[in-house]
Amino acid sequence: MYSKTMPTGFPKDFLWGGATAANQVEGAWNVDGKGLTTAEVVQKATDRKVMSMNEVTKESIQEAIDDQSDKRYPKRRGVDFYHHYKEDIKLFAEMGFKVYRLSIAWARIFPKGDETTPNEAGLKFYDDVFAECHKYGIEPLITISHYEMPLILTLTNNGWASRKTIADFTRYTEVLFKRYKGVVKYWLTFNEINASTWGFTGTGAVDSDLNVHDQMQLRYQALHHEFVASAIAVKQCHEIDPEAQIGSMLARMQTYANTPNPVDVRAAQLQDQLNLFFTDVQVRGEYPEYMNRYFVENGIELEMEPGDEQLLAEGKVDYLSFSYYMTTITSATDDVEQASGNLSMGGKNPYLKSSAWGWQIDPVGLRITLNEFWDRYRVPLFVVENGLGAEDKISDDGKIHDDYRIDYLRQHIEQMKEAVKDGVDLMGYTTWGCIDVISAGTSEMSKRYGFIYVDQDDEGNGSLKRMKKDSFDWYKKVIASNGEDLD
Ligand code: BG6
Repeated sequence: MYSKTMPTGFPKDFLWGGATAANQVEGAWNVDGKGLTTAEVVQKATDRKVMSMNEVTKESIQEAIDDQSDKRYPKRRGVDFYHHYKEDIKLFAEMGFKVYRLSIAWARIFPKGDETTPNEAGLKFYDDVFAECHKYGIEPLITISHYEMPLILTLTNNGWASRKTIADFTRYTEVLFKRYKGVVKYWLTFNEINASTWGFTGTGAVDSDLNVHDQMQLRYQALHHEFVASAIAVKQCHEIDPEAQIGSMLARMQTYANTPNPVDVRAAQLQDQLNLFFTDVQVRGEYPEYMNRYFVENGIELEMEPGDEQLLAEGKVDYLSFSYYMTTITSATDDVEQASGNLSMGGKNPYLKSSAWGWQIDPVGLRITLNEFWDRYRVPLFVVENGLGAEDKISDDGKIHDDYRIDYLRQHIEQMKEAVKDGVDLMGYTTWGCIDVISAGTSEMSKRYGFIYVDQDDEGNGSLKRMKKDSFDWYKKVIASNGEDLD
């Protein structure tokens, strides 16, 4: 007789929590020996529908190096987590977090990127942060490189465009695995590995002076170096701390065919492959065949060294994590209305509403993605980013009533639960920007995701005081009930 039963809800050890990134929260950009990072030369977008994070030129970098203030560079300020981490982690603990996803700023550990000895003050900061998490029984989940690297590596190597950067990265990762052995159980190599095909934020390479073909050539080559570096890090992690688990991280962009016309379905399939390529390499350990055709047809020639393919095969990740904010539609023709927002998001879906930034909100799509990932990869999954960016207002009663955020999160958690009932192996859920952070895409402060409000405006004015929003108490209830009480 068939004896397996259907799960009825989230597993008992489900990892509930929240996520941030060093360059968006820490501030303290020039203290305790830290070097300047690629994130800290990015200015606030002049139009919030444009991603300023990839609009970097050689001239704008020089201008940023000459400017020793944080006025025009919001990621130098963050929300001063560097000096508030005890207060912030205490608030996370009050919500009942089991896990807190954060990243390490590479330039705190290796300020110039190519030193042989790490900066002890940088390591000490993260010792203290992890100890603070453990004090409350919170497991840190660490992204090793979240949208930043030491700026000097851009100036000397053009970031990941050069193979030399692999050695700098593996020196950094070895230091981390040795120092935090037994302290950090969950690691991720690169945040949103697919961001490398979008430009500077992913590659640390300036390519604004190149034509589109040459840009893509450079980005796929840089990505190959990141794949190799990631595979080496996976191997190092397994050797140094066999108890730890290390995963990959993808910005998932589920896409649907615009119509049932097979040509639209095929166009959507290709679009989806171009999103799954990254995890195909990192989870399965090899380049998928469909990319051979894509590279030939787009004139992209990758340089690989002997041994690279073996490294990729040996550096398969233990679990797959991803960010999930939106879905798109794909058409074989260009007669479809485009979704307008600050990401290149494909066609507009008439069945979905969008955030103020044009991101199409699709909770059911999360269930679809979870099922597809589980079918395709058979490794545990982790939703490490999800959330609604919105402009929160302080009401006359002095509170922040963010019921729109509660609605968004509730609907996504409901669909995650459905996926768990479908049989998906889901490890955990960390909402994005559990405390308000500087936006990655536009460097605004006013695009907020948090359960905790931070008093700071786009220009950096404000007391930095932390305040609980309505969603704070709601999420506390969700965690306490292991996802059963969503009201
Ligand atoms: C993800 C990034 O792409 O989306 C985060 O990993 C980012 O760093 C998040 O903050 C939301 O994007 P944005 O542009 O609204 O900050």
